[in-house]
Amino acid sequence: MSAPGSHERTVVPVSEEIARYVVAEAIWAPSVHNTQPWRFVDDGQQISLYADVDRGLPVADPDGREMMISCGAALFNARLALRRLGYVPETRVLPDPGHPALVARVSWRQRAPVCEFERRLSGQVHLRRTHRGAFDPEPVPRDLLAALCGSAARDGTALRIVADDGQRAALAATVQAAEHHLRLDAERIRELARWSPAPGSARRDGVPVTSYPRRAERTDPYFPGRDFACGHGWGMPPLSTARLPRAAGAVGLLTTVADRRENWVNAGQALQRMLLTASTCGAAVALHSQPIELPWLREFIRTQLSGGAYPHVVLRIGMAVQAADSVRRGVDDVLFPSDAAAPSSN
Ligand SMILES: Cc1cc2nc3c(=O)[nH]c(=O)nc-3n(C[C@H](O)[C@H](O)[C@H](O)COP(=O)(O)O)c2cc1C
Repeated sequence: MSAPGSHERTVVPVSEEIARYVVAEAIWAPSVHNTQPWRFVDDGQQISLYADVDRGLPVADPDGREMMISCGAALFNARLALRRLGYVPETRVLPDPGHPALVARVSWRQRAPVCEFERRLSGQVHLRRTHRGAFDPEPVPRDLLAALCGSAARDGTALRIVADDGQRAALAATVQAAEHHLRLDAERIRELARWSPAPGSARRDGVPVTSYPRRAERTDPYFPGRDFACGHGWGMPPLSTARLPRAAGAVGLLTTVADRRENWVNAGQALQRMLLTASTCGAAVALHSQPIELPWLREFIRTQLSGGAYPHVVLRIGMAVQAADSVRRGVDDVLFPSDAAAPSSN
């Protein structure tokens, strides 16, 4: 189903078509290691979003924080898809304490015209890709950074730009230390390897070799990427062999004032709003969650670099030509009718 604007549309789609369209948009959210840890249930004029705990990362993410952030990003896409259809989403986050895997319920009854900004954000859902590498040297427009900070503030979260050179270097050092630690931890490597398909794989989840560079691009300060190739040397060759200066980009921290499940879901919603906003301006964003997965480094960042707020992900924002690919499972793999067996993880 296409997503015609409300004024263009003459036929009101039935609720099943709406659910399929909404889920087809939701699944293009970012998720940690592209685990896509979500399930959707079509309740008729309402979609329930569940975390799929079988797709969690027990070693890297034992509390399910990154899983909830990923689901929050999918929730943002679902809401945006409803707006694109001219509906006003009614969202309840974590509505039932008796069902901890139930992330949100979204229903739609009222209609309102789609605004130009919503249309532009929605246009980026399938185009946006996680950037992994350095950026062109040109600085990120200040207006864009201000817009990203404004987007984060709408969900009770904050984007803190780390502009001070000393603090940038300190944050980069936490990413380096974390990456060093993760590469020495056999259990973590085994877990990462499960989400790192080999070249030529037909899998529709995990991080494909076509989405990361074979060789790290050094920047000052240096924010190393994860070794998704797990030592195999997989990845894409550089786009150009010219030795152009490359930059780390503008660096920020996505934070929340508390560290509860609803904060994690909201951090995911804010993250996706920011990523799509950046994408509308032709900017790319790299994500680093390595130091946040190690409690002592997360605590260092919280107390020394984010004013006591809880950090969730390090972002680098910049301008770059992107050739990254990504994959997703199909709608039929993640959308279930309400009369089907309840999701195993609820
Ligand atoms: C909570 C969270 C943490 C992430 N951490 C990293 C990371 O440390 N390094 C990285 O390269 N990508 C990270 N990502 C991005 C995912 O790997 C990416 O969204 C996924 O592979 C799908 O690719 P796409 O965003 O290009 O569609 C993270 C995403 C989320 C939601």
